[in-house]
Amino acid sequence: MVVPRPAQLENTGDAPFTLLPGARIIVAGPGADAVGRLLRVELATDCRRELAVVHEPPAFGDIAIVIADDEGPAGHPAEGYTLEVAAEGVRIGAATAAGAFWGVQTLRQLVPAECEGDPLTVEAVRLADHPRFAYRGAMLDVARHFFPVADVKRFIDAIVLLKVNHLHLHLTDDQGWRIEIASWPELTRIGGSTGSDGSHGGFYTVDDYRDLVAYAAERHVTIVPELDMPGHTNAALASYPELNPDGVAPALYTGSRVGFSTLRTGDPVTDGFVRDVVREVAALTPGPYLHIGGDECLSTSATDFETFVRRAAELVAEAGKIPVGWHEMGRAGGLPEGTVGQYWSFRTPRDDAAEEALAFVRGGGAVIMSPADVAYLDIVYEEGDPIGQDWADGPTDLRSSYEWDPARIVPGLGDAHILGVEAPVWTETIATIEEVERMVFPRLAAVAEIGWSEAPADTADVLSTRDFEDFAHRVERLAEHWDALGTAYRRVAEVPWPEDATR
Ligand code: ACM
Repeated sequence: MVVPRPAQLENTGDAPFTLLPGARIIVAGPGADAVGRLLRVELATDCRRELAVVHEPPAFGDIAIVIADDEGPAGHPAEGYTLEVAAEGVRIGAATAAGAFWGVQTLRQLVPAECEGDPLTVEAVRLADHPRFAYRGAMLDVARHFFPVADVKRFIDAIVLLKVNHLHLHLTDDQGWRIEIASWPELTRIGGSTGSDGSHGGFYTVDDYRDLVAYAAERHVTIVPELDMPGHTNAALASYPELNPDGVAPALYTGSRVGFSTLRTGDPVTDGFVRDVVREVAALTPGPYLHIGGDECLSTSATDFETFVRRAAELVAEAGKIPVGWHEMGRAGGLPEGTVGQYWSFRTPRDDAAEEALAFVRGGGAVIMSPADVAYLDIVYEEGDPIGQDWADGPTDLRSSYEWDPARIVPGLGDAHILGVEAPVWTETIATIEEVERMVFPRLAAVAEIGWSEAPADTADVLSTRDFEDFAHRVERLAEHWDALGTAYRRVAEVPWPEDATR
């Protein structure tokens, strides 16, 4: 009944928990207060119950959140949690606030959101749960179409229900530069002024970005900023002529082609530009990662590309962050130790993608798996969908986004070298946050489960070990939560949606 499927869940068969008026949220331990306050807000949203948050011993019928070193499942301190639901009360135990917060997300899914009638009861269960991978991500392309802070916060609210803990923001591309850089102000004044299909444009001020990062951090989500270079840079090139190979600024671009732009590589002005943008964004970003793109550089020579990404990655490391790049960056030898690659080829690797991904592991790093034919959530669900793209072997239905495994794609790349999974949503064709959500949900539930839940048994056939029917029934239960949250989703035919759901 929970997505992602927990490591251990036992129905105890005992009397259920009843949420009675006067029930309180009891908090104990470092960080428990903040997690308790989020649970309070979430229960108010999900089912219109107002609970007080108190530091007191639990009484009958309370919900306790306890954070201490010896809490949570043994061996999984970072994000593991235990959850017990019984007639006497609910108890979430974890060694960290993150673990407790994921326990809260499980509890939300167990509490019916259809709660007009009293009393509100929850089946008695006992859970011990922890993630398979440390990195469970979603990516939002805010460069093609810009999404204001309120939209991104709404998106964060929706992804945490699925225990997704990284939000990669694709902040720059040919169509727009979306983050204020004090030392290069034309990037946003000119480069942020428009977007795909001539859309309105926009950008995050430094304060906006700080606000987003803080909002995400409270919810145990790490923001991963991406400055895509040296291709995908028309917005920057239109803002500063000196960054162009020919010294001439091109017009702003609002179409959907890729591969036509490149920074002037091997040039001190460009080097200063990269140093400045990396330094400023790193300074605003508390998370460990800074993504520098490196994909589809079809207008940069092979040698220039390798020299450029090596230097850019070095500047990221100097700024105190772990560089992340799309798998093509693996072509460049000598990247800083620990540089992370992001694989975006197919379930069956094409061209040199497998070799390029493995290069990150040889360099002491790890790989984030985003196979485009199953994890790219801007790919249409069905032929003829008016929104979305179909280049990545689309359509991609819910079943396809569920029946794969990140450790069965690149030979030699197993769990030990996979940081996690990420589902990107590119927005060339997607203009509003409701449209984003309809592309993302329910398919993100599939990718989130692949990132969190135990690996399938070690057989050659992933399909025989992932139970899609069981998954679809659990996804059905999410509908009432999405309705309560106001999250848009696609009522795909593969899920037996409840009749009365409104979307
Ligand atoms: C990509 O889809 N160009 C990373």
